[in-house]
Amino acid sequence: MSTPHIEAQNGDYAETVLLPGDPLRAKYIAENFLTNVKQVNSVRNAFGYTGEYKGHRISVQGSGMGIPSMSIYINELVRFYGVKTIIRVGSCGGMAPGVKLRDVCLASGSSTDSAVVANSFAAGVHFAPLADFKLLDTAYHVAKNMGIEPKVGDIFAADRFYNDDIDMKKLADYGVIGTEMESAGLYLLAAKLHFRALSVLTVSDLLFGSQEKTTAAEREKTFNDMIKISLETAIA
Ligand code: HPA
Repeated sequence: MSTPHIEAQNGDYAETVLLPGDPLRAKYIAENFLTNVKQVNSVRNAFGYTGEYKGHRISVQGSGMGIPSMSIYINELVRFYGVKTIIRVGSCGGMAPGVKLRDVCLASGSSTDSAVVANSFAAGVHFAPLADFKLLDTAYHVAKNMGIEPKVGDIFAADRFYNDDIDMKKLADYGVIGTEMESAGLYLLAAKLHFRALSVLTVSDLLFGSQEKTTAAEREKTFNDMIKISLETAIA
């Protein structure tokens, strides 16, 4: 079998998938954290791998950036390959005071300006996309046991990376801890397709205050804490 965007065969994916946006991060996770690795997808260079972490079968799949690209991979993984748990591993821009560069954020929910959420229900209904509580609770305690205090809260999934129409300060004032471009879409699809989902994010830049940034190489290579938290959560 194959799907329009995935060439893997039936059974090639594990029931639990780590979903980074960057396909090279998928490769990095497979090469550095998994054993007995098999590459299962290379269509459009959206690399997918299946291997083992501490004896548990785990897959990792690049999703591309933004809700539209990510949604293609989620739909195909869940509908055609039987995936039941998806943990997004990605980066976010820190927004709330107290959120620092390199912090680990757990998205308990995700606000968005994306039309996919608004368009899923009748006008006037504003669905609140939420994380799976068991995954969230597990990730929080795994992180704490590693000596990491994760920031937990609302992540604003923006449709546009370059965007001066949205009052990000107001969102921060309403308690939004960070911004990226996927989590609301992931949680909406989890509700729709009945799989479990969590976004684990590392702060790669800060929207307000310090202009210090992480480099692309650092983003690929140094987010090991986030990956370990996600893998330990996956097998808990
Ligand atoms: N905005 C949107 N997506 C992001 C950001 C940001 O500042 N940082 C990392 N992903």
